Amino acid sequence: MIPTQLLVSAAFSVFCVLKVNSLDTFTAAVYEHAVILPSVTLHPVSPEEALALMNRNLDLLEGAITSAAKQGAHIIVTPEDGIYGVSFTRKSIYPYLEDIPDPQVNWIPCNNPNRFGHAPVQERLSCLARDNAIYVVANIGDKKPCNASDPQCPPDGRYQYNTNVVFDSQGKLVARYHKQNLFMGEEQFDTPKEVEVVTFDTAFGKFGIFTCFDVLFHDPAVTLVKDRHVNTILFPTAWMNVLPHLSAIEFHSAWAMGMGVNFLASNLHNPLLRMTGSGIYAPDFPKTFHYDMKTKEGKLLLAQLDSHPYHPIVNWTSYASSIEAFSMRNQEFKGTVFHDEYIFVELKEITGNYTVCQKDLCCHLSYQMSEKRSDEVYALGAFDGLHTVEGRYYLQICTLLKCKTTVVQSCGDSADTAATKFEMFSLSGTFGTQYVFPEVLLSEVQLAPREFQVTSDGRLLSLQPTSSPVLTVTLFGRVYGKDGAPNASSYLVAHSLTGLLTVIIPIAYSLCW
Ligand SMILES: *[C@@H]1O[C@H](CO)[C@@H](O)[C@H](O)[C@H]1NC(C)=O
Ligand SMILES: *[C@@H]1O[C@H](CO)[C@@H](O)[C@H](O)[C@H]1NC(C)=O
Ligand SMILES: *[C@@H]1O[C@H](CO)[C@@H](O)[C@H](O)[C@H]1NC(C)=O
Ligand SMILES: *[C@@H]1O[C@H](CO)[C@@H](O)[C@H](O)[C@H]1NC(C)=O
Repeated sequence: MIPTQLLVSAAFSVFCVLKVNSLDTFTAAVYEHAVILPSVTLHPVSPEEALALMNRNLDLLEGAITSAAKQGAHIIVTPEDGIYGVSFTRKSIYPYLEDIPDPQVNWIPCNNPNRFGHAPVQERLSCLARDNAIYVVANIGDKKPCNASDPQCPPDGRYQYNTNVVFDSQGKLVARYHKQNLFMGEEQFDTPKEVEVVTFDTAFGKFGIFTCFDVLFHDPAVTLVKDRHVNTILFPTAWMNVLPHLSAIEFHSAWAMGMGVNFLASNLHNPLLRMTGSGIYAPDFPKTFHYDMKTKEGKLLLAQLDSHPYHPIVNWTSYASSIEAFSMRNQEFKGTVFHDEYIFVELKEITGNYTVCQKDLCCHLSYQMSEKRSDEVYALGAFDGLHTVEGRYYLQICTLLKCKTTVVQSCGDSADTAATKFEMFSLSGTFGTQYVFPEVLLSEVQLAPREFQVTSDGRLLSLQPTSSPVLTVTLFGRVYGKDGAPNASSYLVAHSLTGLLTVIIPIAYSLCW
């Protein structure tokens, strides 16, 4: 009797596993959360006050999680710093931290809350996941004591990490990721000694996870896709929009397309800090997105995704290196985009073919505008160089953009509205990298789902006239191997540092916590 029962239940569970494994699609949710900030962040508060603040944020996250689960979501992502906010010191963040164990310990905090000490936040997240039968992704702070036997142990005797956690639909801790690429000003946290490449398998594909500024670097982001072959990236972020190329919805949807993965981006909502822009992005087009500088409310997004999205292979240099440079009827001029000096040409006619080059990168554009307005200037730009402000990363960028004013010196300044639609565009470049992220951003910072495609020979091509006026059409290339290159010149260093000092203090240009 018992063996039969065992057999039956074994057969049943095999059946279940097979059935569960056959999920071709799943429903994803991301929540843009208007985080409640503590009134005091520069001095430590009591553990009780810290927990009370975190519970107020968790109350809001609970609303989003239960609503997402009721609508059939399998997984929900909540933002970086979504439970306690931003701008702490090492000391003042401490009362908010919990010891987060390695998921190998096989722990359901909801069932066994005190197994690893006092962990009320992990307990509550685990219960929300279990009781709603949904995967919950959240960002909290981890603390790990260390001592003099470890030469890298900080003077206060502990490591503090910006940490993503994932609880599965039974409430079990299945992933813990310590942020690798901390943004400037995140002095409350330590960088892990080794890059953590964190994945987990589900019935609806393989997942990888990283945080905010990590998206600009090779490790762990590219490694997760290229070596670990994840299908979907989970991306809690606290992203401050920077136009023309680094607004959240624009860059994150472009990363999904360039890397060929699903990308679930959950941003904080705080228009005063220029934080908004969340979305559910598939490699072929954004399924849903949210950008809202007008209201103070959070927003829940849901969309269905393929569990194993198809990833076409693109040769990013093939077309551009096969054609002759278009004639350059315009005079070149220099312009600055987020502290980087580009070479531009102005698009003077309603239609045309232009080439512009900097160092090894030549960018080709064919375009036709719907009308050539006298009150707007568009330019084609190329940049091939090391970006050194608020992070050090080598870029190759081809960009068509709307200049802020009709004065060409304004080309590259942030502009968020435009009036010119394009009948067609085709942009390509002689990239020295396979990591190129295609961006199309329309007036008022909106995406253009299904309006363009990338061809296998590396052209970013319109499929139809644009539905709204164009802010930018850009191929954003990352040359990870050159991040260690020496700075361009002492002039540029001095210039950048000045920019840094004048700009950072009012948080006017910062990107990402
Ligand atoms: C502190 O160091 C001792 C040995 O020097 C070691 O046994 C102990 O585990 C260390 N404690 C922590 C928290 O690392
Ligand atoms: C991409 O295309 C160029 C030009 O056609 C060719 O030289 C290069 O080998 C191709 N790269 C890859 C990785 O196939
Ligand atoms: C641009 O180039 C294409 C072929 O590459 C040509 O058909 C078209 O006439 C050109 N347009 C202009 C305005 O020169
Ligand atoms: C390059 O510039 C950055 C700041 O712009 C500076 O921190 C760094 O030390 C410089 N590196 C070299 C090798 O000069």
